[in-house]
Amino acid sequence: MPEPVEAAMDAQRQVPDEDRPAGTGTRRSEDREAEVFRQAVLRQVEALTADNQRLLQSVVRSERRFRTLAKSVWHVQEEERRRLARELHDGIGQTLTALANQLQRILDDARGAGNLGLEHRLADALDLTRGSLHDTRELSRLLRPTLLDDLGLDAALNWLARTLTERTGLQIELRSGLDEQRLHPDVETLVFRITQEALTNVIRHAQARSAQIVLERRGDTLILRVEDDGCGCDVQLLADAERAGASGGLRGMRDRAELFGGRVELKSVPGDGTVVQLTLALDPPDRTG
Ligand SMILES: Nc1ncnc2c1ncn2[C@@H]1O[C@H](COP(=O)(O)OP(=O)(O)O)[C@@H](O)[C@H]1O
Ligand SMILES: [Mg+2]
Repeated sequence: MPEPVEAAMDAQRQVPDEDRPAGTGTRRSEDREAEVFRQAVLRQVEALTADNQRLLQSVVRSERRFRTLAKSVWHVQEEERRRLARELHDGIGQTLTALANQLQRILDDARGAGNLGLEHRLADALDLTRGSLHDTRELSRLLRPTLLDDLGLDAALNWLARTLTERTGLQIELRSGLDEQRLHPDVETLVFRITQEALTNVIRHAQARSAQIVLERRGDTLILRVEDDGCGCDVQLLADAERAGASGGLRGMRDRAELFGGRVELKSVPGDGTVVQLTLALDPPDRTG
């Protein structure tokens, strides 16, 4: 595409010689040349504007397709987690339950036989089996808590806080203003996953004593905050690492939130804890809950 000015010069060159009279006619001729020049520039600007518009529409279409595709990948991932969670719970979980029951019966029989050595070995085997059953159920729920589908965010986050507290000693409190209200299933999954990721970071990096999950709704906006009283981190360093293309849990949280039009921010002062906040506009169907 020729540059606008070059095109205008071309147009100027195309003005025939008889249109360039000397003397009094010169002024009119110059005016006409200027008009031709102006029209050529205008045509070029219009062409460029139309091109820009087409490009913009194509970018918007691509972005929409990308979001749809990324959401489908996310749905497939969650579905796969759901399937694995069910398989763990119903498959290995049921087998371990049956094994524990059987061991319990044998242990009861052994007690009657007065064989102390055998009794101890069976009791140990029973403990191991029950421990594995507990771990299997916990892993299954962490993969995809059925609570989330059945009872919603408040119940699932409560369970997550309790489980992580039991497992790590970190005191985790949930303060939810949702009053057990249900949201769109995608929103519930998104909030649960971001909380899970943020708490994993607290446990892994913060050396905190306690953490809080705060969930509130302001009109049509949902706000989730995961706060801790740990060592904090250098936000500038994190931003530099993200700009340099480092991918990690935080990047993943942001990407997932953006798919739903939300945003994740991390605020932290070294030595003074960290807050991860998700802000998400809810769609109209969620207004009625
Ligand atoms: N709650 C937190 N307290 C202290 N540092 C944190 C916290 N959350 C994140 N960070 C810092 O941010 C970094 C990036 O986190 P993330 O993207 O989840 O990656 P990863 O957990 O794999 O290191 C962490 O390595 C850690 O230095
Ligand atoms: Mg992480």
